[in-house]
Amino acid sequence: MSNTVTAHAHLLIEDSGNVRVVTINRPDKLNALNRAVLTELDAEFARIAADPNVRAVVLRGAGGKAFVAGADIGELAALNPIQARDFSRCGQQMMRRIETLGKPVIAMIGGFALGGGMELAMCCHLRIAADTAKFGQPEINLGVLPGFGGTQRLLRLAGRGAALELCLVGKPIDAQRAYELGIVNRVVPLDQLEEAVFKLAAQFASAAPQALRGILDAILVGGECGIEAGLDYETQAFAVCTSTSDMREGTAAFLERRKPVFRGD
Ligand code: COA
Repeated sequence: MSNTVTAHAHLLIEDSGNVRVVTINRPDKLNALNRAVLTELDAEFARIAADPNVRAVVLRGAGGKAFVAGADIGELAALNPIQARDFSRCGQQMMRRIETLGKPVIAMIGGFALGGGMELAMCCHLRIAADTAKFGQPEINLGVLPGFGGTQRLLRLAGRGAALELCLVGKPIDAQRAYELGIVNRVVPLDQLEEAVFKLAAQFASAAPQALRGILDAILVGGECGIEAGLDYETQAFAVCTSTSDMREGTAAFLERRKPVFRGD
């Protein structure tokens, strides 16, 4: 990791080579998402989108106990319907920005990922969890429902039965159960979490960015449309890759029996 840490009010930003590490830094409130955190995350992911040096992202929570324990219940409690609609939209738009970033974002989940925290994890492209992590959509216990895309992304990730059960019952599940339901990609012992996440992030950061973008976009688009439109999208993304020098490098390296070096152009 580089020594340069940029501190915002609620975020820490570091670079490790071409990997941007975004840490939500509100450990005293288990990194709960208040309006300020949503706004800072949105601005940071806009910067990441515009920065060609950033080729992969790790998103995590500070403090060891939580990834994110949800939307800020203190703020939630005071919302009227108009403010609630804006709060929901603000969270949804930020999470959609992450989902459509076109660069892989790994959620590193060492503890609680509840409510808005689980929603934030689900808009990332991969979720790597410690065996101690806990997942859930407990909003029902507060008299509301998930408002940052949880009903929609959980449905798509884990299917209707699991989405209904998690949201209706509101009881957290452990990392192993989340893995079985397809919510989490990998579960590792807590002391191996950082190594597992950063190894994968480094792999993404040295891959061909245009190919990564094509995969991310084609799978995202394909999940929302029919097979013909999805195949057409895949063809376009595939064709775009052939205009990159990374594609020349990847194929040449294979034929010359050497490791490719993808420069990102
Ligand atoms: N919003 C605001 N503050 C939160 C929060 C949230 N979603 N989750 C935790 N906190 C705060 C607590 O109020 C507490 O603050 P305080 O020390 O100023 O009182 C601090 O974080 C530590 O949480 P605490 O509840 O004392 O820790 P715990 O280990 O006993 O319990 C949880 C951990 C995650 C089980 C519990 O905090 C919890 O249930 N949080 C809410 C989860 C939730 O419903 N999320 C969905 C929100 S829509």
